[in-house]
This record gives sequence, structure tokens and C-alpha cells, in this order.
Amino acid sequence: MSREPGGIDVDGLVREDRVHRTLYTEPGIFREEMARVLERTWVFVGHESEVPQAGDYRTTTIGRQPVILSRHTDGQVYVLLNRCMHRGALVCRGERGNSSIFRCIYHGWMYNTRGDLVGVPFPGGYGEDFELAEWALRRAPRVGSYRGFVFASLAPEGEGLEEHLGRARAYMDLLLDAAPEGTITVRSGVERYAYPANWKLQIENLLDGYHPNFTHQIAFEISERRRGTSGRRANSEGSGATARTFGRGHGVLHYGAVNRGYAMEGGLPAEYVTSLRQRLGAERAGEVLAADIQLFVFPNLFFQGARQHYRVVRPVACDRTEVEAYPYTLDGAPEALNRRRVRGLSWWASPAAFGQPDDLEAFVRCQEGLRVEAADWVLFSRGMHRERIDADGEVVGDITDEVPQRGIYREWKRLMRRGGS
Ligand code: FES
Ligand SMILES: [Fe+2]
Repeated sequence: MSREPGGIDVDGLVREDRVHRTLYTEPGIFREEMARVLERTWVFVGHESEVPQAGDYRTTTIGRQPVILSRHTDGQVYVLLNRCMHRGALVCRGERGNSSIFRCIYHGWMYNTRGDLVGVPFPGGYGEDFELAEWALRRAPRVGSYRGFVFASLAPEGEGLEEHLGRARAYMDLLLDAAPEGTITVRSGVERYAYPANWKLQIENLLDGYHPNFTHQIAFEISERRRGTSGRRANSEGSGATARTFGRGHGVLHYGAVNRGYAMEGGLPAEYVTSLRQRLGAERAGEVLAADIQLFVFPNLFFQGARQHYRVVRPVACDRTEVEAYPYTLDGAPEALNRRRVRGLSWWASPAAFGQPDDLEAFVRCQEGLRVEAADWVLFSRGMHRERIDADGEVVGDITDEVPQRGIYREWKRLMRRGGS
């Protein structure tokens, strides 16, 4: 068996149709995947509309490392590593806010929102050659954004953001073009949940079209009773809905015309449809309105178009994960429409909602079941014999097939093998 740096036999642990149980249970593998995957590739950090004014900031993590997304007086957005250059304390503890200065709680070193060290208390204690400029907060070496979505990589070199996103951009366009002004705003709060199981259980699940009829049976029943709609049929084998992957671990569930579309539920205000047609033309507006997709952007970002939100997956330990779900509003859309869509998130994914808590129960059961040592493999072979490549180069399968999960592990393996992009 070939051993690689870190002592992990990546090829032995991840095969085309299965992965080894230790991917979920071994702290050593977790450490390596944080270093080689999350802390190397492009990771979603936050949306520009979360920090609209100079001095606005929000904190988050890239892999295990704390960062600050901030807007400086020069109008630029920065991704700063949240670590005082004196003796290492977080310089910003708050989750979000506005401040012209990050003042370290420990000895009072002060940084501006671009990370420059602008003052240290009692400077006489440092020699004449002490240069403030040398002790600026470190920044993520690469930062890029697409339609307001800010991504960063902790690796100084590697493929560009455009290359990383690839066809995911076209799907982001499909979701974001639903905004009459072409932009969204992410200031409607956040639903947050944590569960005691591995982060990959969540990213596998985001595009798992096999489980809803079973895990979410109760939610579908309630939904049918209340509104006369259900996702049940669309999530059945042979429904015509598809599961897809298209490189770099990204993937999509495409319900297309199968679901009549949550987007259409309750009807759409005529002025909204008109404004979309004006901006996009009738054909594109039709495509956007008919789109019913869920999109996963590897390794940590997921969009559920119908419930107008995105989620960010934050691995904490090999058996602990935090997830944040951000509803967004479509700029230029009628307020009633935005409100109705944002409410859809709390119906499905809040801690007391009808959908998401059942997934979390499934993750915890997996984490516990995977302690069994007599069985090595977690199986992702479903639909391998019937997947096809379409004209755009996407790998396409039935909605219930494990096509996106195979895509995720191909990318995981690529990054683990070469130590990042
Ligand atoms: S650790 Fe920040 S000022 Fe000392
Ligand atoms: Fe689910």
C-alpha cells in the first residue's frame, strides 16, 4: 500500500464507488484534510452585501483558521487572518459589526480594517528599528469574488477562482439572475446549527436526492396537507429530475420541470416577471423562472434556490460540524415575494423546522454506526452503470443516484494527493 505524506493512503481509502469509514472517524485524517483541502483550495468566506459600509466586518473561518472579512475606507473588501501579530490573540471576537479599528484585548495593539498595524501602546519599549508596517495582520494570499460572493485561498499559488468555479458560475448565474437588479442582499439574519458528526456527511447530503422520501417523509406529508405540494415525486427514481457533477467537486440537483417549482408557488407578482423580462429578455427570464436547482460549490457552499438561501459548512473536528444558513433577498423584487421565500427557509431548516433536523439525526446515526470496525466501506455506487456525459461535459444521473457524491470524493482525493490546488 502506498503511503503518502501524512501517512494517509489516499488511493486506498477512496475508490470510485466507495470511501473508507475512517474518513469520518479519524482525527488524523481530519487534520490532513483541513490542511490539504480546506486550507488550500478556494473557500467561500462571505457575501459583499454583509459588509456594505467602510468599517463593516464579519468573522468566520477558513478550515480551522479564524479570519475577518472587512470593508476598508478604500472601498475594498479584505480577508484578514484573525491573529494578533504580538502574541497571537484573536483581534476581533465579535461575529459582525462596524469598527474603524480592531484593538487587541490583550496588550492593546491596534489594526485598521485593512489589517495595517496603526499603533502599539508604550512604543518606547520597542527599539528604533521597530516598523509598524512589518507587523500588519496577515491576509489571505488570494481573494476573489463572483457576483458578490467572496472566496479566499490560504495557498499563495494555484488555479484561479474562475477555473475553480468552472460551470458552477453558470448555475450561480441561474440563481442570482432571479434578482431583477441582478444582485442579492444577505442581511436577513442566519439560521445556525451544529451536530456531532463529520462535515462530509453534510456535504454528501446536500445533493443527496435518494434520501428525501425516507428521511423527510413526515415533512412531505405535512407539506401536502398544508399546501397541496410535495417534493416526493421529484425525488423518486425515474422522475426525470437529475443529479449532476461537473468537476472540482461541484454538483447540482436539477428538478427542472418535474417539480412545478417552489418558485412558482403562490404565483409570481406580475411586476416581478415583467422586470425580469426587461432585464434578461423573455427567453432567459423563462429559464430563470423555471429553474429549480440545488447547487453545491465545493468545499463549503450550498444553494437551495427554492428556499432562497445558501448554507456554509464549517468543519470543527472530525465529529463536530457547524452549518450556517443565510437567507438572501433578491434586489428589486417585491417585498412580499422576498419575505415569502425567506420564510421558506425557517420552515425547512431552522432548529425546530420540519426538514433539516431529520438530516442531522441521520448524520449522527452514521457517525455512531461507523464505529463498527467489521465493515470498512461507505458505498457510493448507486447509478454508476447508468451515468452519462451530456453535451456540456456534465456527468448526469437519475435524481436518486450518487453522482454528486462521487464527484465530491474525486476532488477530495485530487486535493489530498497533491496537497491542494
Ligand atoms: S496579543 Fe495582541 S496585543 Fe498582545
Ligand atoms: Fe435532507
